[in-house]
Order: sequence, then structure tokens, then C-alpha cells
Amino acid sequence: MERARISIFDTTLRDGEQSPGCSMNVQEKLRLAHQLDKLGVDIIEAGFPIASQGDFTAVQAIAATVQRPVIAALARACAPDIERAWQALKAARRPRIHVFLATSDIHLQYKLRITREECLNQAREAVRLAKSYCADVEFSPEDATRTEPEFLCRVLAAVIEAGATTLNIPDTVGYTTPFEFGSLIRRIRENVPGAKHVTISTHCHNDLGLAVANSLAGIEAGARQIECTINGIGERAGNASLEELVMAMRVRPDIYAYETVVISEQLFATSHLLSEITNVPVQPNKAIIGRNAFAHEAGIHQDGVLKNPLTYEIMTPKSVGVPDSTLVLGKHSGRHALGIRCEQLGYRFDRHELDEIYRDFVIVADKIKSVQDHHLLELIRNVQGGLPRIPPSYADRVPAALAAAANAGGSRASSIPHGKPQVAASPLGVEAANVVINPMADHQGDQEDYLWGV
Ligand code: KIV
Ligand code: ZN
Repeated sequence: MERARISIFDTTLRDGEQSPGCSMNVQEKLRLAHQLDKLGVDIIEAGFPIASQGDFTAVQAIAATVQRPVIAALARACAPDIERAWQALKAARRPRIHVFLATSDIHLQYKLRITREECLNQAREAVRLAKSYCADVEFSPEDATRTEPEFLCRVLAAVIEAGATTLNIPDTVGYTTPFEFGSLIRRIRENVPGAKHVTISTHCHNDLGLAVANSLAGIEAGARQIECTINGIGERAGNASLEELVMAMRVRPDIYAYETVVISEQLFATSHLLSEITNVPVQPNKAIIGRNAFAHEAGIHQDGVLKNPLTYEIMTPKSVGVPDSTLVLGKHSGRHALGIRCEQLGYRFDRHELDEIYRDFVIVADKIKSVQDHHLLELIRNVQGGLPRIPPSYADRVPAALAAAANAGGSRASSIPHGKPQVAASPLGVEAANVVINPMADHQGDQEDYLWGV
């Protein structure tokens, strides 16, 4: 099937940076821009040069050193902003000026205090000026989803005539819904003169938790660029999450017949780098890159995943750059996972002994929040006097695992190595012998308490 190409416009360094606690200095922005380049995004919005000297310098540095993607800079629809944006961008191999002006009545009346006609003229003149500097000009009618549609279409027609090459449709306040947003994009494509010859883009905020769904509805209706951020950071509830969008298209090509050139194996590293730079952690259950995204605690799930990861995983951890799946031992865990953890610690039991340990384990897991290896070793001692029963060839590997556990403070997560992406893992016996200590085991805080693995 023919797949339409979707451009990924990353605005982590601009809209993402506007989220509280996420501002970055020049060096940090440059470091992240290089990682975004490695990730394969098409456009990097590097900043808002008029906002501060630091942002100007960051955009300038990124424009001068990051060569492959388009480098965009934001400007309000006025000469000083546009000129400043161009000064910052002019060394870029592929520069883009991104001009925005609010178009909704509520913004015109209360924020800008201008009429619709003044707004239309300002948008047209701003795009003309931007075009005099740069061939690639994007225009965003801020608060588009609350703008009267007829007026929105008039503004868009005017900026196309003035030279805009991308029309970005922001759901600035995260108010729209997938059906409504899809209809708006379709209406723009079908009714605005010239719209079929420019790129239509989505820019969705997540106030109702619909940013990714709205963006996908936008591309189904004909948009060919998506604006998004790593970890979904951005104003208030954030922007559409890049990793979720990319993987929705990759995991469900039957529904979303589109392709991006993002290297999905770089998603986890990029997410980690952003968290490291901003010191803002990712919520554990965040789709795709949260630390629980490939962790299994329930016994039924663990048993299924050990037999074949496809039972409970719709993508392989490796396909997004996560080292391995994690089995977490907690009160919901089953014998299968417990048995493998015992083997990692150097003990193999028959069914009867494992039942006995399992009974005690459930009591302990129910009572204490933090069940650690030393608790398990105590349970094991009660059953068989502490003698390792693993064949010598396997037991040889155990001290390294125990040393790693000691280094990790006794609390850890282990992982199941996967086979090829989206292919069933090897049979249990092989898995057990190959279990590795998960490099993600350096979890901190309360969450760590139950994250010791099989
Ligand atoms: O959300 C928004 O409207 C924006 C524009 C500047 C594109 O971020
Ligand atoms: Zn925004």
C-alpha cells in the first residue's frame, strides 16, 4: 500500500521549553538538537529568538551546526520579531521562519485588541516580510480551533498569497476533539484557495488528553506535518507526544498508512537525555518510554510474556531503544517469574519447593512494600537450607548477578532479552539462562520499592 510521508516537526526546544521547569541553556539546547538530528526529525524548532539573548544564541548555534533538518525559529507577526528570527537563522542550511498571530475573537478582543480586518492585514504583511528573507515560511493562526471558520479560511488564503509554504493549525488550548479537528483540516484543504499546494500541519495541545488523537485525525484529513515534542512536554498539559505519534503509525500501519523517517530506536535515548537536561522525570506509565511501559508485575502477564512477549507487548522494547522488558516481583506476581528470579539468585527448585516459597513470598509481598533479594534469600533458606542447586555451568554466572544486585543496593529489576523486533522470544529455558540485569535498574524513590525483578 502507498504510504504518505509525514514530516515530524519537533518543537521540544521551543513550545516544550515553555513548560514550567523545562527551560534550557545554550549548551543544553545544542546537545538536545544534535540528539533530535540523530532521531531523524524533519524540522527542529530551535527557539524564539526575540524572547532572550540566550534563545537567540541557541538558535544561532543550532542553525550553524545542525545541518540535515530544517531549522525553524518562531516570530510574532511583527517586524522586530521576524528580523531577529532571521538574524538567528541565516547561517542555517535549511532555515524556516515560523510566524504566528492569534485569530480567534477572544484573543483579538482581549489580548491583541485589534479587529478581524487588522488581524488579516497584519498576518499578510508579516508573512510578506518573512518571505523577503526566507523562502520557507510557516504561518500559525494561534487559537485556530476557537476561530470562526470562515474568518480562519480568509486569513489562511491571504497568507498563502503572501508566500506561506506551511499552514500550521494550532489547537492552542487543547480544546478540540478528533472528529472536529479532522473536519477543520478537511475544510481548510478543500476550501482555502491554494491550500492544496502548501503543507498543512497540526499543532495540538493536551489539555483534554487528546493531543495525539487529534493530530492523527489531522493527518487522516490531509495534514502532512505534525508538530510535537519529546515526552509530550509543552505549555500546561503539554504538546502531542512525538514518541506516541511515531509508534502509533509504526505499530498500526493498517490503520495509519503513513510513514515518518524517525529512527524509533533512538526514542528512549532522546527521552532520557531530555529528562536528564531538564531534571523533569517521565511519569512511570508514560506510553512508549515510561519505565513501566515494558514492565510486567501480574503473574498471568509475566507467565505470558515469558512464553511469548507478543502476549502482552504490542511492540518490542528494542524497537524504541528500551534495553529489555522488565518483570517486577510484587504481590501480583506468579510462580513462573518467582522461579526464574530464584534461578538468577543461584537456586533451582522443584514444583513442591517452589510452591512453598511462593506461599511465603505472597505473605511477605502483601505485608511489606519493599520486597528485596535478601527477603527472598531468607525464604529460600527456610525451604532448603541455603544450598545452591543450580548446575555448575549456570551457577558460575550467579556471583556476577549478585554483585550487581549488591551494587544496586539489593533492589533491582531484571529483564527478558527479546528476539528480533516483534518476534516471539526464545523458549523459557533459554531465556532463563540469558537473563541480564537491566541497566534501567537505577530507579529512585518509592517507585523503586517494588521494582525488583525476576
Ligand atoms: O500553541 C500555539 O498556538 C503555538 C503557536 C505559537 C504555534 O505554540
Ligand atoms: Zn503550542
